Amino acid sequence: MEELMRIEGLKMYFGGLKAIDGFDLSIYKGETLGIIGPNGAGKTTLFNAICGVYVPTAGKVIFEGKEVQGTPAHEMAKKGISRTFQISKPLSGLTIFDNVVAAAGVHEYTGIRSYFHKAHTKDVEDRAEEVIREVGLAEVANKKASDVSLGYLRRLEIARALITQPKLIMLDEPCAGLSNFAINEITQLILNLKEKGQSIVLIEHNLPITMKVCDRITVLSYGKKIAEGTPEEVRTDKQVIEAYLGEEDD
Ligand SMILES: Nc1ncnc2c1ncn2[C@@H]1O[C@H](COP(=O)(O)OP(=O)(O)O)[C@@H](O)[C@H]1O
Ligand SMILES: [Mg+2]
Repeated sequence: MEELMRIEGLKMYFGGLKAIDGFDLSIYKGETLGIIGPNGAGKTTLFNAICGVYVPTAGKVIFEGKEVQGTPAHEMAKKGISRTFQISKPLSGLTIFDNVVAAAGVHEYTGIRSYFHKAHTKDVEDRAEEVIREVGLAEVANKKASDVSLGYLRRLEIARALITQPKLIMLDEPCAGLSNFAINEITQLILNLKEKGQSIVLIEHNLPITMKVCDRITVLSYGKKIAEGTPEEVRTDKQVIEAYLGEEDD
């Protein structure tokens, strides 16, 4: 399998807190890789340090053979790395459709500014329509983002990432806080992306979902990798079971 991204010796410290403390990982083209671990393990921090929200304290992020660590998030998106946020922050006064169009800016023009100047092309609008259909947002496309439920906002996050045509999409707990019905829909959406050959990294706290959609799983605890392997290998790993035991259900 062809390597898409390699992370070497990544560290992300906040003062004395070692949120990520020496992390290595390879992500291969076309795979769905799960990152699991207890709350506070460092999963979101890992995404932020990879995607350019933070400049890592140390280590390398190699994407398509080139070092990219410390590159700002919008530049990362141009290179083909796009992520969703656990807490979605849409432009709430705009419609779902316009939110997706505005997110296309990483390649086209300059994002939201291009939206207000109507500088986007028909091609962007066509692509937005296609992505909206793909993620199941068609019935709310003309509603304001402030008027739709959390399940739709999560799909909007995914649509905003997809419109940038990412080589690697990174999803941060897309199912958190959703009803079982909405969880099933998002799970199906991830499976559809996977079917199309999209490379995916998925942070998910829900073990059954991760086991269902991921080819490989990496387990993080206190900023360090404690296990990695197929869903079956991880499920039966003693350290993983220990890390999850005694955790409150949430
Ligand atoms: N910006 C920040 N400043 C200081 N500490 C942070 C920051 N972001 C995360 N942390 C801390 O880093 C640790 C890992 O957090 P996080 O990556 O959000 O965990 P997870 O996503 O696995 O639940 C936690 O102890 C958290 O409080
Ligand atoms: Mg998190």
